[in-house]
Amino acid sequence: MKNRINQLLEEISQLAATNQEELEALRIKLLSKKGEISILFNDFRNVANEEKREVGQLLNELKNAAQDKINELKESFSNSGASDQKTDLTRSADPIKLGTRHPLSIVKHEIIDIFSRIGFTIAEGPEIEDDWHVFGALNFPPEHPARDMQDTFFIEQNPDVLLRTHTSSVQSRVMATQKPPIRMIFPGRVYRNEAISYRAHCFFHQVEGLYIDKDVSFADLKQALMYFAKEMFGPDTQIRLRPSYFPFTEPSAEMDISCNLCGGKGCQFCKHTGWVEILGCGMVDPNVLENCGIDSKIYTGYAFGMGVERITNLKYQVKDLRMFSENDVRFLQQFESAY
Ligand code: DAH
Repeated sequence: MKNRINQLLEEISQLAATNQEELEALRIKLLSKKGEISILFNDFRNVANEEKREVGQLLNELKNAAQDKINELKESFSNSGASDQKTDLTRSADPIKLGTRHPLSIVKHEIIDIFSRIGFTIAEGPEIEDDWHVFGALNFPPEHPARDMQDTFFIEQNPDVLLRTHTSSVQSRVMATQKPPIRMIFPGRVYRNEAISYRAHCFFHQVEGLYIDKDVSFADLKQALMYFAKEMFGPDTQIRLRPSYFPFTEPSAEMDISCNLCGGKGCQFCKHTGWVEILGCGMVDPNVLENCGIDSKIYTGYAFGMGVERITNLKYQVKDLRMFSENDVRFLQQFESAY
Protein backbone atom coordinates (compact mmCIF):
# COMPACT_ATOMS: atom_id res chain seq x y z
CA MET A 1 0.00 0.00 0.00
CA LYS A 2 2.82 2.36 0.88
CA ASN A 3 4.36 1.74 -2.54
CA ARG A 4 1.11 2.54 -4.30
CA ILE A 5 0.72 5.74 -2.25
CA ASN A 6 4.24 6.87 -3.08
CA GLN A 7 3.72 6.03 -6.72
CA LEU A 8 0.54 8.13 -6.79
CA LEU A 9 2.31 11.00 -5.01
CA GLU A 10 4.94 10.95 -7.71
CA GLU A 11 2.30 10.85 -10.45
CA ILE A 12 0.41 13.73 -8.90
CA SER A 13 3.45 15.95 -8.80
CA GLN A 14 3.73 15.56 -12.55
CA LEU A 15 0.06 15.90 -13.46
CA ALA A 16 -0.87 18.27 -16.23
CA ALA A 17 -4.12 19.17 -17.95
CA THR A 18 -4.65 21.36 -20.96
CA ASN A 19 -8.37 22.10 -20.50
CA GLN A 20 -11.28 21.89 -18.06
CA GLU A 21 -12.46 18.50 -19.35
CA GLU A 22 -9.12 16.90 -18.76
CA LEU A 23 -8.98 18.42 -15.32
CA GLU A 24 -12.40 17.05 -14.41
CA ALA A 25 -11.35 13.61 -15.64
CA LEU A 26 -8.32 13.77 -13.36
CA ARG A 27 -10.44 14.80 -10.40
CA ILE A 28 -12.81 11.87 -10.96
CA LYS A 29 -9.94 9.43 -11.39
CA LEU A 30 -8.35 10.48 -8.10
CA LEU A 31 -10.83 12.00 -5.73
CA SER A 32 -14.35 10.82 -6.61
CA LYS A 33 -16.09 8.14 -4.51
CA LYS A 34 -14.75 5.43 -6.75
CA GLY A 35 -11.46 7.22 -7.40
CA GLU A 36 -8.07 5.72 -6.68
CA ILE A 37 -7.60 7.55 -3.41
CA SER A 38 -11.03 6.61 -2.07
CA ILE A 39 -10.25 2.97 -2.86
CA LEU A 40 -7.07 3.26 -0.84
CA PHE A 41 -9.00 4.74 2.06
CA ASN A 42 -11.39 1.78 1.90
CA ASP A 43 -8.45 -0.62 2.01
CA PHE A 44 -7.04 1.16 5.02
CA ARG A 45 -8.92 -1.09 7.41
CA ASN A 46 -6.83 -4.04 6.20
CA VAL A 47 -3.57 -2.36 7.14
CA ALA A 48 -1.79 -4.00 10.11
CA ASN A 49 -2.32 -2.12 13.36
CA GLU A 50 1.31 -1.23 13.87
CA GLU A 51 1.42 0.36 10.42
CA LYS A 52 -1.86 2.24 10.65
CA ARG A 53 -0.36 5.43 11.98
CA GLU A 54 2.28 5.78 9.28
CA VAL A 55 0.02 4.69 6.41
CA GLY A 56 -2.78 6.94 7.67
CA GLN A 57 -0.49 9.94 7.58
CA LEU A 58 0.70 9.06 4.10
CA LEU A 59 -2.88 8.66 2.88
CA ASN A 60 -3.84 12.09 4.18
CA GLU A 61 -0.78 13.56 2.58
CA LEU A 62 -1.78 11.96 -0.70
CA LYS A 63 -5.32 13.27 -0.52
CA ASN A 64 -4.10 16.79 0.24
CA ALA A 65 -1.53 16.66 -2.54
CA ALA A 66 -4.17 15.58 -5.05
CA GLN A 67 -6.58 18.28 -3.90
CA ASP A 68 -3.85 20.95 -4.02
CA LYS A 69 -2.76 19.92 -7.48
CA ILE A 70 -6.32 19.96 -8.83
CA ASN A 71 -6.87 23.41 -7.31
CA GLU A 72 -3.62 24.66 -8.72
CA LEU A 73 -4.48 23.47 -12.22
CA LYS A 74 -8.00 24.89 -11.89
CA GLU A 75 -6.56 28.23 -10.92
CA SER A 76 -4.19 28.26 -13.85
CA PHE A 77 -7.18 27.88 -16.18
CA SER A 78 -9.29 30.55 -14.53
CA ASN A 79 -6.36 33.01 -14.49
CA SER A 80 -5.86 32.65 -18.16
CA GLY A 81 -9.55 33.22 -18.91
CA ALA A 82 -10.54 31.46 -22.06
CA SER A 83 -7.11 30.21 -22.92
CA ASP A 84 -7.47 26.50 -22.91
CA GLN A 85 -4.58 26.45 -25.37
CA LYS A 86 -2.22 28.33 -23.06
CA THR A 87 0.40 25.66 -23.38
CA ASP A 88 0.64 23.91 -26.68
CA LEU A 89 1.82 20.49 -25.64
CA THR A 90 2.21 19.40 -29.23
CA ARG A 91 4.97 21.94 -29.84
CA SER A 92 8.40 20.43 -30.15
CA ALA A 93 10.73 21.19 -27.27
CA ASP A 94 13.64 23.59 -27.56
CA PRO A 95 16.50 21.64 -29.09
CA ILE A 96 19.30 20.79 -26.69
CA LYS A 97 22.53 22.38 -27.87
CA LEU A 98 25.19 19.79 -28.56
CA GLY A 99 28.74 20.73 -27.71
CA THR A 100 31.55 20.52 -30.22
CA ARG A 101 34.93 18.95 -29.95
CA HIS A 102 37.71 21.40 -29.20
CA PRO A 103 39.77 22.17 -32.32
CA LEU A 104 42.93 20.94 -30.59
CA SER A 105 41.20 17.62 -29.83
CA ILE A 106 40.01 17.31 -33.42
CA VAL A 107 43.55 17.78 -34.71
CA LYS A 108 45.11 15.59 -32.00
CA HIS A 109 42.75 12.77 -32.94
CA GLU A 110 43.58 13.25 -36.59
CA ILE A 111 47.31 12.99 -35.85
CA ILE A 112 46.74 9.87 -33.74
CA ASP A 113 44.58 8.37 -36.44
CA ILE A 114 47.17 8.97 -39.17
CA PHE A 115 50.00 7.37 -37.18
CA SER A 116 47.87 4.50 -35.95
CA ARG A 117 47.33 3.53 -39.59
CA ILE A 118 51.06 2.80 -39.87
CA GLY A 119 51.28 0.82 -36.66
CA PHE A 120 51.94 3.43 -33.97
CA THR A 121 50.27 2.89 -30.62
CA ILE A 122 49.70 5.54 -27.94
CA ALA A 123 51.14 6.14 -24.49
CA GLU A 124 50.86 9.04 -22.08
CA GLY A 125 53.09 10.21 -19.27
CA PRO A 126 52.84 12.56 -16.29
CA GLU A 127 52.73 16.36 -16.69
CA ILE A 128 54.53 16.84 -13.37
CA GLU A 129 57.91 15.31 -14.05
CA ASP A 130 61.41 15.01 -12.67
CA ASP A 131 64.60 16.42 -14.12
CA TRP A 132 65.84 13.02 -15.26
CA HIS A 133 62.95 12.21 -17.59
CA VAL A 134 62.64 15.71 -19.08
CA PHE A 135 66.35 16.54 -19.42
CA GLY A 136 68.85 14.09 -17.91
CA ALA A 137 67.93 10.92 -19.78
CA LEU A 138 67.54 12.93 -22.98
CA ASN A 139 71.21 13.87 -22.97
CA PHE A 140 70.95 17.43 -21.64
CA PRO A 141 74.15 17.80 -19.52
CA PRO A 142 73.57 19.59 -16.17
CA GLU A 143 74.66 23.02 -17.33
CA HIS A 144 73.65 22.66 -20.96
CA PRO A 145 72.32 25.91 -22.42
CA ALA A 146 69.40 23.99 -23.92
CA ARG A 147 67.95 23.82 -20.43
CA ASP A 148 67.69 27.60 -20.51
CA MET A 149 66.23 27.52 -23.99
CA GLN A 150 63.15 25.92 -22.48
CA ASP A 151 62.10 28.15 -19.66
CA THR A 152 60.85 25.68 -17.13
CA PHE A 153 58.24 25.88 -14.36
CA PHE A 154 59.75 24.33 -11.24
CA ILE A 155 57.50 23.25 -8.43
CA GLU A 156 58.08 24.63 -4.94
CA GLN A 157 61.66 25.65 -5.55
CA ASN A 158 62.60 22.01 -5.90
CA PRO A 159 64.68 21.82 -9.08
CA ASP A 160 63.92 18.12 -9.38
CA VAL A 161 60.15 18.55 -9.69
CA LEU A 162 58.96 20.43 -12.72
CA LEU A 163 56.22 20.72 -15.31
CA ARG A 164 57.37 18.93 -18.42
CA THR A 165 58.48 21.28 -21.17
CA HIS A 166 58.08 18.69 -23.92
CA THR A 167 56.46 15.30 -24.45
CA SER A 168 59.90 13.87 -25.23
CA SER A 169 59.86 13.02 -21.51
CA VAL A 170 57.46 10.16 -22.29
CA GLN A 171 60.17 8.71 -24.57
CA SER A 172 62.49 8.29 -21.61
CA ARG A 173 59.78 6.62 -19.56
CA VAL A 174 58.68 4.23 -22.30
CA MET A 175 62.23 3.25 -23.33
CA ALA A 176 63.15 2.54 -19.73
CA THR A 177 60.24 0.14 -19.28
CA GLN A 178 59.64 -1.46 -22.68
CA LYS A 179 61.77 -3.58 -24.94
CA PRO A 180 62.13 -2.72 -28.65
CA PRO A 181 60.49 -2.82 -31.09
CA ILE A 182 58.75 0.34 -29.85
CA ARG A 183 56.55 2.24 -32.27
CA MET A 184 54.53 4.78 -30.35
CA ILE A 185 53.22 8.32 -30.21
CA PHE A 186 52.80 10.37 -27.06
CA PRO A 187 50.23 13.17 -27.14
CA GLY A 188 49.99 15.57 -24.22
CA ARG A 189 50.13 19.00 -22.67
CA VAL A 190 53.42 20.76 -21.97
CA TYR A 191 54.35 23.90 -20.05
CA ARG A 192 56.86 26.68 -20.55
CA ASN A 193 57.40 29.82 -18.61
CA GLU A 194 56.53 32.21 -21.43
CA ALA A 195 54.78 35.56 -21.39
CA ILE A 196 51.32 34.98 -22.84
CA SER A 197 50.69 36.69 -26.17
CA TYR A 198 48.94 35.89 -29.44
CA ARG A 199 51.91 33.74 -30.46
CA ALA A 200 53.06 32.15 -27.17
CA HIS A 201 51.32 30.54 -24.23
CA CYS A 202 52.52 29.06 -20.98
CA PHE A 203 50.92 25.73 -21.87
CA PHE A 204 50.38 24.04 -25.19
CA HIS A 205 50.18 20.57 -26.70
CA GLN A 206 52.58 18.28 -28.48
CA VAL A 207 52.62 14.86 -30.08
CA GLU A 208 55.91 13.01 -29.81
CA GLY A 209 56.75 10.01 -31.96
CA LEU A 210 59.28 7.24 -31.34
CA TYR A 211 60.32 4.20 -33.34
CA ILE A 212 63.07 1.92 -32.02
CA ASP A 213 64.04 -1.34 -33.66
CA LYS A 214 66.95 -3.02 -35.40
CA ASP A 215 68.08 -1.17 -38.55
CA VAL A 216 65.82 1.86 -38.28
CA SER A 217 67.25 4.53 -40.59
CA PHE A 218 66.82 8.20 -41.39
CA ALA A 219 65.10 7.12 -44.63
CA ASP A 220 62.41 5.42 -42.51
CA LEU A 221 61.92 8.65 -40.59
CA LYS A 222 61.63 10.67 -43.77
CA GLN A 223 59.11 8.26 -45.24
CA ALA A 224 56.91 8.28 -42.13
CA LEU A 225 56.96 12.08 -41.98
CA MET A 226 56.18 12.46 -45.66
CA TYR A 227 53.24 10.10 -45.27
CA PHE A 228 52.04 12.13 -42.27
CA ALA A 229 52.33 15.48 -44.08
CA LYS A 230 50.39 14.27 -47.10
CA GLU A 231 47.67 12.66 -44.99
CA MET A 232 47.32 15.74 -42.83
CA PHE A 233 47.62 18.53 -45.38
CA GLY A 234 46.78 16.88 -48.69
CA PRO A 235 48.57 14.80 -51.33
CA ASP A 236 50.27 17.77 -53.01
CA THR A 237 52.12 18.72 -49.83
CA GLN A 238 55.92 18.82 -50.13
CA ILE A 239 58.30 18.37 -47.21
CA ARG A 240 61.81 19.63 -46.63
CA LEU A 241 64.24 18.66 -43.86
CA ARG A 242 66.73 21.22 -42.59
CA PRO A 243 69.69 20.22 -40.37
CA SER A 244 69.16 21.29 -36.76
CA TYR A 245 70.25 20.44 -33.25
CA PHE A 246 68.54 18.71 -30.33
CA PRO A 247 70.51 17.08 -27.51
CA PHE A 248 68.49 13.86 -27.79
CA THR A 249 68.85 13.24 -31.54
CA GLU A 250 71.87 12.92 -33.82
CA PRO A 251 71.58 13.87 -36.60
CA SER A 252 68.68 16.25 -35.96
CA ALA A 253 66.44 18.07 -38.37
CA GLU A 254 63.48 20.39 -38.57
CA MET A 255 60.77 19.66 -41.05
CA ASP A 256 58.98 22.26 -43.14
CA ILE A 257 55.94 21.65 -45.30
CA SER A 258 55.06 23.64 -48.38
CA CYS A 259 52.77 26.41 -47.15
CA ASN A 260 49.27 25.06 -47.45
CA LEU A 261 47.75 28.55 -47.50
CA CYS A 262 49.48 29.86 -50.61
CA GLY A 263 50.48 26.48 -52.06
CA GLY A 264 54.17 27.43 -51.77
CA LYS A 265 53.94 30.66 -53.75
CA GLY A 266 54.70 32.82 -50.72
CA CYS A 267 52.32 34.66 -48.39
CA GLN A 268 52.33 36.48 -45.07
CA PHE A 269 51.83 33.25 -43.13
CA CYS A 270 54.98 31.61 -44.51
CA LYS A 271 56.81 34.94 -44.47
CA HIS A 272 57.01 34.73 -48.26
CA THR A 273 59.26 31.67 -48.15
CA GLY A 274 56.67 29.14 -49.31
CA TRP A 275 57.57 26.87 -46.36
CA VAL A 276 56.37 26.52 -42.76
CA GLU A 277 58.13 24.60 -40.03
CA ILE A 278 55.98 21.97 -38.31
CA LEU A 279 58.23 19.67 -36.31
CA GLY A 280 61.63 18.66 -34.97
CA CYS A 281 63.03 15.19 -35.52
CA GLY A 282 66.13 13.03 -35.77
CA MET A 283 67.80 9.72 -35.01
CA VAL A 284 67.69 8.94 -31.30
CA ASP A 285 71.13 9.72 -29.86
CA PRO A 286 72.93 6.50 -28.73
CA ASN A 287 73.47 8.16 -25.31
CA VAL A 288 69.69 8.40 -24.88
CA LEU A 289 69.23 4.72 -25.74
CA GLU A 290 71.93 3.74 -23.24
CA ASN A 291 70.49 6.08 -20.55
CA CYS A 292 67.23 4.20 -20.90
CA GLY A 293 68.76 0.72 -20.87
CA ILE A 294 68.57 -0.04 -24.61
CA ASP A 295 71.67 -1.47 -26.29
CA SER A 296 72.70 1.13 -28.89
CA LYS A 297 74.86 -1.42 -30.70
CA ILE A 298 71.81 -3.50 -31.52
CA TYR A 299 69.07 -0.92 -31.83
CA THR A 300 68.59 2.40 -33.58
CA GLY A 301 65.57 4.62 -33.72
CA TYR A 302 64.01 7.86 -34.78
CA ALA A 303 61.98 10.44 -32.88
CA PHE A 304 59.95 13.48 -33.79
CA GLY A 305 57.91 16.06 -31.94
CA MET A 306 55.26 18.46 -33.19
CA GLY A 307 53.08 21.19 -31.71
CA VAL A 308 49.36 20.53 -31.96
CA GLU A 309 48.52 24.26 -31.88
CA ARG A 310 50.83 24.87 -34.82
CA ILE A 311 49.21 22.15 -36.93
CA THR A 312 45.77 23.42 -35.92
CA ASN A 313 46.72 26.95 -36.97
CA LEU A 314 47.82 25.66 -40.33
CA LYS A 315 44.55 23.81 -40.82
CA TYR A 316 42.20 26.45 -39.47
CA GLN A 317 44.18 29.71 -39.54
CA VAL A 318 43.60 30.57 -35.91
CA LYS A 319 45.63 33.75 -35.54
CA ASP A 320 45.66 34.11 -31.77
CA LEU A 321 46.86 31.21 -29.60
CA ARG A 322 44.92 32.51 -26.61
CA MET A 323 41.65 31.58 -28.33
CA PHE A 324 42.41 27.92 -27.65
CA SER A 325 42.08 28.30 -23.90
CA GLU A 326 39.47 31.03 -23.54
CA ASN A 327 36.49 28.76 -24.16
CA ASP A 328 34.55 31.37 -26.08
CA VAL A 329 31.62 29.44 -27.57
CA ARG A 330 31.55 31.72 -30.63
CA PHE A 331 35.02 30.44 -31.43
CA LEU A 332 34.38 26.81 -30.49
CA GLN A 333 31.11 26.57 -32.43
CA GLN A 334 33.03 27.03 -35.66
CA PHE A 335 34.56 23.60 -35.25
CA GLU A 336 31.48 21.43 -35.52
CA SER A 337 32.91 18.26 -36.85
CA ALA A 338 32.06 14.63 -37.13
CA TYR A 339 35.43 13.64 -35.83
N1 DAH B 1 61.11 18.15 -27.84
C1 DAH B 1 61.31 19.11 -28.91
C2 DAH B 1 60.65 20.44 -28.50
O1 DAH B 1 59.86 20.46 -27.63
C3 DAH B 1 60.69 18.62 -30.18
C4 DAH B 1 61.45 17.48 -30.74
C5 DAH B 1 62.51 17.69 -31.58
C6 DAH B 1 61.10 16.18 -30.43
C7 DAH B 1 63.23 16.65 -32.12
C8 DAH B 1 61.83 15.11 -30.94
C9 DAH B 1 62.88 15.37 -31.80
O2 DAH B 1 61.54 13.85 -30.68
O3 DAH B 1 63.56 14.31 -32.34
O4 DAH B 1 60.94 21.43 -29.10
